Amino acid sequence: MASKPIQPFSRQEAVVCRGIAKTWAEGTPRAHEALRDIDLDIQPGEFVVLLGPSGCGKSTLLYLIAGLEARSRGEIWSFDDAVTSPSPDRSLIFQETSLFPWLSVWQNVAFGLSLRGDPLEERRRAAEAALARVGLAEAMEKRPDELSGGMRQRVAVARALTMRPKVLLMDEPFAALDVQTRAKMQDFLLDVWRDSGASVLFVTHSIDEAVALADRVVVFTARPGRIKSIIPVDLPRPRDPFAPESESLRRRLMEELRSEVDRAFAEQEALVGA
Ligand SMILES: Nc1ncnc2c1ncn2[C@@H]1O[C@H](COP(=O)(O)OP(=O)(O)O)[C@@H](O)[C@H]1O
Ligand SMILES: [Mg+2]
Repeated sequence: MASKPIQPFSRQEAVVCRGIAKTWAEGTPRAHEALRDIDLDIQPGEFVVLLGPSGCGKSTLLYLIAGLEARSRGEIWSFDDAVTSPSPDRSLIFQETSLFPWLSVWQNVAFGLSLRGDPLEERRRAAEAALARVGLAEAMEKRPDELSGGMRQRVAVARALTMRPKVLLMDEPFAALDVQTRAKMQDFLLDVWRDSGASVLFVTHSIDEAVALADRVVVFTARPGRIKSIIPVDLPRPRDPFAPESESLRRRLMEELRSEVDRAFAEQEALVGA
């Protein structure tokens, strides 16, 4: 296909991706195409879930939007900024949180503020407020290794919130948690999101998680990742996972994903067999 003209867009969008492509190690014999032709707009305050088979480029897209990796083609904007490097306006939260074990919980939460040179008392107050929002006000002075996995992820969210990001980029943040903790964390995240007014771009390969969280679900193809479909979710919150509407959405997402998961699986088998 001939290259598409860049579409005009308003600078009010939280994230705009136009014609994004990423090939890792481009121009070398190890070149590996991860993403192709990604056009995506995210509105301020919107909760968007990226759903796709493992290896389809979901994390790659988050790194590009975070400004941590260079794209091969295309443009990314966030509000008025052309994305070229990381910004405190866009926080990235990973599956495995890296907290500094030698710092207390509040010092971890205030770490970004200390890099910025904020005074001690302000840092402490901001950390306290952020920890209260994630229900961990009592854990200020604890060390990270005294906390459970779910609590550590809440600390990571508190740390992101202290920077008042406009966009929260979350890469399978609850994937390592047990099912009950995960459900609680989803509820908690929806509360935090509502208060913060930030847009959330949340990566998962879990259909249940997409149904629980999303305003819109963006389904990816197998690698090279392209957008297969974008499905608006018009269900009231709090959502009942057993409601017939949730069930039919789950079925629809499963149908969208099935052939892509099969393709991703076949590719991985071929790589192992080679
Ligand atoms: N730093 C990297 N260098 C080379 N290839 C990478 C790198 N990161 C990811 N990839 C490859 O890019 C593809 C997409 O990876 P990723 O974005 O991690 O997928 P997902 O998050 O959807 O599982 C995969 O084939 C992966 O092996
Ligand atoms: Mg990933």
